[in-house]
Parts: sequence; structure tokens; C-alpha cells
Amino acid sequence: MFDVSKSVVQEIEMDSLKRRGIRLLVKRDDLIHPIVSGNKWRKLKYNVELCQARKKEGILTFGGAFSNHLVATAAACQSLGVKAIGIVRGDELNKDSNETMKQCSSLGMQLVFVSRSEYKLRYEKAYIEATSIKYPNHLIVPEGGANYHGIIGCQEILQEVEQEVDHIFVAQGTSTTSCGIAMSLKENQQLHVVPVLKGYHSLSEMSKLFFQAAMDEQMIKELLKKVKVHGKYHFGGYGKYTDGLLLFIQDFYQNHRLKLDQVYTGKVMFALLDVIQNNSFDNSTVLFIHTGGLQGVSGVEKRSGFKLYAK
Ligand SMILES: Cc1ncc(COP(=O)(O)O)c(C=O)c1O
Repeated sequence: MFDVSKSVVQEIEMDSLKRRGIRLLVKRDDLIHPIVSGNKWRKLKYNVELCQARKKEGILTFGGAFSNHLVATAAACQSLGVKAIGIVRGDELNKDSNETMKQCSSLGMQLVFVSRSEYKLRYEKAYIEATSIKYPNHLIVPEGGANYHGIIGCQEILQEVEQEVDHIFVAQGTSTTSCGIAMSLKENQQLHVVPVLKGYHSLSEMSKLFFQAAMDEQMIKELLKKVKVHGKYHFGGYGKYTDGLLLFIQDFYQNHRLKLDQVYTGKVMFALLDVIQNNSFDNSTVLFIHTGGLQGVSGVEKRSGFKLYAK
């Protein structure tokens, strides 16, 4: 299994925050593993355990052409000696289409490319049943590891933090990570979620996942009271970015030696500093969850001409 003790809590020093008595801490889940990094192992851990406990041959999961989750599943399955099947959106693709696909394939994942219309069926009961007949003896894990076991794994992130923390900031894609964190909040803590998709309905997506975790309506209501959504930091939508965001990531690395990515963590850190600047966070401790995602950065550097982590 992967070593979560590498995920330390690190303090970022900034004069502007110090003057207001604000401490900024970072939970370094990005350090867990170079590929099965950040929230990826959190979401896979109990799915992999279930696969082994049920003596399944492997894991079958879903993802897009640039999915961090597919690569992480391929790497985790390879190192644990179980098979991996990836159902990929886009039947125009193949195993050499991009670095993500090449990496999945070299890690031994069997890639199955399906049309966009077939991919849309991935949450339908009948489709899941047909898939499990077609690929027998595989544990089916939804896109992004968004299931009960994924949430339970993400609950452990905050439990490892010994410091007293008032505010927690995290990115949202499928909401699995934020649901796990919300479930482990202490009474006085507030969770700030930053959806990276445009028009994402954070609270209703979280509710749907909480239902899967067998929660009742009252419990969900109570948990969501502690969640604040910051919906204007998607920079155009999923995978989109601006030169301003890339400059911010570059500058942050220059000043603090912390690598952020342009899809998830860069947007969250940008949001965190903006929200702190414009709200009353004085004399509090803020925790940023570093969910990884750094493996996609080299492609962006090539396309944009920006060197994000210049020495
Ligand atoms: C690096 C990174 N951070 C954050 C997220 C968002 O997590 P979630 O999908 O659990 O909301 C993802 C997507 O899984 C991710 O790859």
C-alpha cells in the first residue's frame, strides 16, 4: 500500500497573512506518491481493499483522455498485482493518443475506447450491469473514484492533521474529496470548496454522494451548513486557464517553493488568498489540501510557453 505518512503539514509564511494573525498550513497529499498522488490514493484505498477482499481479478473504472484517476488506478493496480481496465471517453482515441493514455497502457491497464454517447451511460444501472457481465470478476469503480469507499478514504485526510484548524480549502471535481473532508470536520471548522467546473452545483452534487454514503436528509443538512462554496474561481471551466493563473502559479513557486497545477490546486490557492483578503479571517488557521495533479503540468508548459517551476 502507499505511505500516507509522507503527507506532512507544512506552513507557508506570508507577511500579509502574518500581520492579520493568519496561519496558512498545507496538507501535502501530493507527496504520497508521484502518480498515485494527492486524493487519488485516498479514493482508491478502500476500493482496492474491497477488490482484494472479494478476490476480484481487478478494477474497472472510467475516465476522459486526460484523467489523473485512470493513471492512478493503473499504477495502484500494477503495484498491488491486480488487473485494471479503463473505459475511456472517445472512440477516436487509442493507447498512443496522449501521454495519459500512453502511461495507462505502459502500466498495464487495458484501455477500452467508447463513443461519447456510450460514455454518457456510465451511471445507468443497466449499463453497469451489462459492463459487469462483459468484464466479469472486476470491481466497478465510478469515474474519479466517486463512491462510498472513495469518500471513506478521503475522511482520513483531516484525521491526520494534529494542528487546530479553523478553515479548510479544497478543490472539487466529483466532490468525493470534499464529502470525505466534510464528514470529518470538527464542530467549529468550516470547509471551503472551490469547484473547478463552470456551473457546477456543489451542494447538490455533495448531497447525492452523501446519500450513497447512507446518510439521511437531516445529517446531510447539518454537514452542508459547514460548507461554503466559492464558485467563481473556475477560470473558464474544467481544464481551462488564463495567463494570469499561470503567472500566479509561477509566482507562488518562486516565493514559496510549492508546486501547484492549473486544473485544480492553482485555482484553489488563488481562491483561498482572494477570499482571505476580502473576508474576516483574522487570527485564524487556514488549511489548504494539496490534492496533487502535478503530472499534467508538463503538457501545459509546452502549450503555453510558461515555465511554471523555474528555478
Ligand atoms: C489533483 C486533483 N485535485 C482535486 C480533484 C477533485 O477531487 P474530487 O473529484 O474528489 O472532487 C481531482 C479530481 O479527482 C484531482 O485530480
